[in-house]
Amino acid sequence: MAKEIIIDKPLDMHLHLRDTQMLNLVAPLSAKYFSGAIIMPNLIPPVTDKDMLIAYRERIKKAIGDEIFKPYMTLFFKSDYDYKFLESIKDELSAIKLYPAGITTNSEGGVEGFDIEKLKPTLEAMSELNIPLCIHGESNGFVMDREAEFIPIYEKLASSFPKLKIIMEHITTAKSVEALERYENLYATITLHHLLITLDDVAGGMLKPHLFCKPIAKRPEDRKALLKVALSAHPKVMFGSDSAPHPKHTKEAPGCAAGVFTAPIALPLLAELFEEHNALDKLQDFISTNAQKIYNITPPSKLVILQKKQMDIPLSYGDIVPMMAGEKCSWRIKEIKVK
Ligand code: DOR
Ligand code: ZN
Repeated sequence: MAKEIIIDKPLDMHLHLRDTQMLNLVAPLSAKYFSGAIIMPNLIPPVTDKDMLIAYRERIKKAIGDEIFKPYMTLFFKSDYDYKFLESIKDELSAIKLYPAGITTNSEGGVEGFDIEKLKPTLEAMSELNIPLCIHGESNGFVMDREAEFIPIYEKLASSFPKLKIIMEHITTAKSVEALERYENLYATITLHHLLITLDDVAGGMLKPHLFCKPIAKRPEDRKALLKVALSAHPKVMFGSDSAPHPKHTKEAPGCAAGVFTAPIALPLLAELFEEHNALDKLQDFISTNAQKIYNITPPSKLVILQKKQMDIPLSYGDIVPMMAGEKCSWRIKEIKVK
């Protein structure tokens, strides 16, 4: 019999579901295979109040129909959120996502200049209310250095707000892995694509728009450092796909939108990667258990049975091209059991 592995309650701790037709197309693809996901708030306009958050959650629920899937909602960070507002919304939300202004897709309303003093009241309230802070940690410097240049800000935040859980989203560098070790309250998500590719895959040969994302994939030694903590399921790291769909015509264009679409193929590709490195026994922790502990959540029951049997990665899902479109994966999803 082909080799199998069962993942209990897979979680995607960083997911873009978008809105309207795109939401209707992509939400079912995550909802089928995952128990839940942290839903990013970078819509147009971004999710910044309780009504918007609840309405978006309802649109997600409608889009996924009968699938068992918990959308863990987030707000788009604003420095004028006060204690009273955060207290009133706390039960509806799992985290707040901070974007430096203009750093990536739909982040224009993010934080300008990064004066921590200005952010202090909101961060103190989050800390007291135990609301995790997710950060897209990049400066506006040279593209390969942006994440490393942001590390002093992570350090300042981590030391100034020791009770605040700070999640370094989609880390791509060895330096971020090191920073993670230095502060108790720093955690990280790691994407599938940053475990598989380096900048060479994006731009070393013919330009690959479907591998272009923010933060851009880095050097082989960075990828190695990410693999080390992911494959050992370091307790401070968790899987977050950053699956970020864009229509094909906005990727295959002179100005290519940033984002790699991986949600429906992530679990088989992770199984393939972990098997290649003799680390299948760590997959459960990386895809679910670590995140449950970090976020203190119990997702709905779902068992995903992965089997070592070849799968063809689709050329597209509607007008979205996934990572590795048309290529093969040696694992596939055999069955999903919802208890
Ligand atoms: O590549 C990216 N795409 N990185 C992000 O941070 C945002 C995302 C998107 O929303 O398209
Ligand atoms: Zn993202």
